Amino acid sequence: QLKKTDVVPLLMNYLMENEQIICADPTTVEAKLRKMVLGGAGKTVVISDFDYTLSRFANESGERLSTTHGVFDDNVMRLNPELGQKFVDLKNKYYPIEFCPKLSMEEKIPHMEKWWGTSHSLIVNEKFSKNTIQDFVRQSRIVFKDGAEDFIQSLDGHNIPLVIFSAGIGNIIEYFLEQKLGAIPRNTHFISNMILFDEDEKACAFSEPLIHTFCKNSSVIQKETSFFHEIAGRVNVILLGDSMGDIHMDVGVERDGPTLKVGYYNGSLDDTAALQHYEEVYDIVLIHDPTLNVAQKIVDVIN
Ligand code: TMP
Repeated sequence: QLKKTDVVPLLMNYLMENEQIICADPTTVEAKLRKMVLGGAGKTVVISDFDYTLSRFANESGERLSTTHGVFDDNVMRLNPELGQKFVDLKNKYYPIEFCPKLSMEEKIPHMEKWWGTSHSLIVNEKFSKNTIQDFVRQSRIVFKDGAEDFIQSLDGHNIPLVIFSAGIGNIIEYFLEQKLGAIPRNTHFISNMILFDEDEKACAFSEPLIHTFCKNSSVIQKETSFFHEIAGRVNVILLGDSMGDIHMDVGVERDGPTLKVGYYNGSLDDTAALQHYEEVYDIVLIHDPTLNVAQKIVDVIN
């Protein structure tokens, strides 16, 4: 008679045979998968980053696609090049700092606070309307990874909560999901920076606390205690991320089950030190993967 966990070795074979998938410690991954399969959908929660995790990093020609903040760079450049250039200058200055291998996280944090603070002030000072931002999203170069729509719908179908934990802009993710999926699935919960609008639906402030790349952990999820309490029985976590800042997104969850960490590596293959670092902190590393196939396969075996 087939046991529930019989599917695990098949998934392990798939992971081990694929050259674009690195699983540095297969024994641990297999043990985590077994626990998750035994727990089933009712014990599972997915905590995922958005930019370059649920969304694609590059198009088929290798051109970089947009982050949620990047929606402003592109659209504002068209309408008001002087302001658009300010967003682009910020990105050119701070993006290399975010990924600089020579700086510690502590050294990077003040720069990230400055980047997010300046960028958000530009948005608020310009008093963009909700309609304008929804149009920006419609015309943006944010693209779902292949299979992302099905992945989100299948989580909803199996009643598995999806926490989208993003240092990007939550409203932009909401508008994007509404535009692509018709509505935001019931199972989806956001922890992100939200643009607050005044009575005329013009941007007037951002939610607090500010979430930047390196504070995606319990420090910003204090106010989410009631949500995490609600899902406390969900002891098994599938964590999806693309940066070093994503690996502690599960820290606010009260539980003792495993977290299976899946990391999308978008960097250069020549940067062996960076790649090795990903292999150390993520259970499964997916190299330049424009799809959600692996995450979907994991969810499929759990159900
Ligand atoms: P996350 O993927 O960890 O949620 O982080 C969001 C990304 O957004 C991060 O890589 C930096 C980027 N970003 C921009 O592209 N433009 C901006 O103005 C800001 C503040 C962030």
